[in-house]
Amino acid sequence: MAKHPSTVPAKSTQDALTNDVLDGLKKEPKELSPVWFYDELGSFLFDNICELPEYYITRTELQIMHGHAAEMAQHIGPDAALIEFGSGTSLKTRLLLDRLEQPLAYVPVDISREHLFQAAGALAKDYPHLHIVPVCADFTQNFELPQFVRSAQRRIVYFPGSTLGNFDRPQARELLARMRDLVGKNGAVLIGIDLRKDPRILERAYDDAAGVTAEFNINALRHVNRELGADFDLDAFDHLAVWVENESRIEMHLVSKKDQTVHLGGEKVRIGRGEHLRTEYCHKYTLDSFSELAATAGLAVKRVWMDSNKLFSVQLLEPARLQ
Ligand code: TRP
Repeated sequence: MAKHPSTVPAKSTQDALTNDVLDGLKKEPKELSPVWFYDELGSFLFDNICELPEYYITRTELQIMHGHAAEMAQHIGPDAALIEFGSGTSLKTRLLLDRLEQPLAYVPVDISREHLFQAAGALAKDYPHLHIVPVCADFTQNFELPQFVRSAQRRIVYFPGSTLGNFDRPQARELLARMRDLVGKNGAVLIGIDLRKDPRILERAYDDAAGVTAEFNINALRHVNRELGADFDLDAFDHLAVWVENESRIEMHLVSKKDQTVHLGGEKVRIGRGEHLRTEYCHKYTLDSFSELAATAGLAVKRVWMDSNKLFSVQLLEPARLQ
């Protein structure tokens, strides 16, 4: 191995990933990070989830953008730099860009170089006059914006998709505080927040009749098997989406159908029959609980747009005035 220094970083990354997975599997209850959802098949399945009849989130947020993007753009004003956390498929972004008055720049921030340049490239074709500045970074960590974006009159962070819900409260607060710092006192945050509703609607949204979300969940194990050489038995897990009232969140679990031993990184992990492995949580807020959370990060809710059934919200936040 020492003769091939180029293999060393790759191996150490793999070791770090293996240790992370093992740490999660040693927790009580067991956990597996949602980052494992997103290999090629996982990204494809995720796109399919967004189109499912039970999964109201994407459709509803798009509907809100269709109805209100012009008003959002008015609040944002001219010459704004739009900084998107996670570059996504950019359909919602387009609805916003189409309405903004002379946007100065569009800055997609994504950890995946491939996604980033794909999204940026597709937008560049349709918005030839827009300054597109992709930034490859993990938006949960500090990162630098290009100088001219930093000096923009008004910087706006756009964070659609209810992705904030996939962070627990302390992390969500930290992320909101980071956004506030990034946009400065003249800036704003435009964020998609999914709302609390009948748990039956939520459990169906995350456990669809066609089994796409189940396949998406199980694919995380397939990904770990392939990438880290583990041997999870994919057929020996059931998908479960469960509403946890006291945390106000949907959790996604994989439930083992039998006693099994998984081999990973030279270790053996026992998983009992009926034992749960948690892979994701999706927090749901009321308007009040979200505005309280935002306040703890120094952000005040200025405007809320919702669909007529109040399933989902897009909210404009501005730095709260400090006395
Ligand atoms: N943020 C969205 C949500 O909470 C999308 C998402 C993230 C998701 N992880 C998921 C959807 C797992 C289904 C399953 O719904």
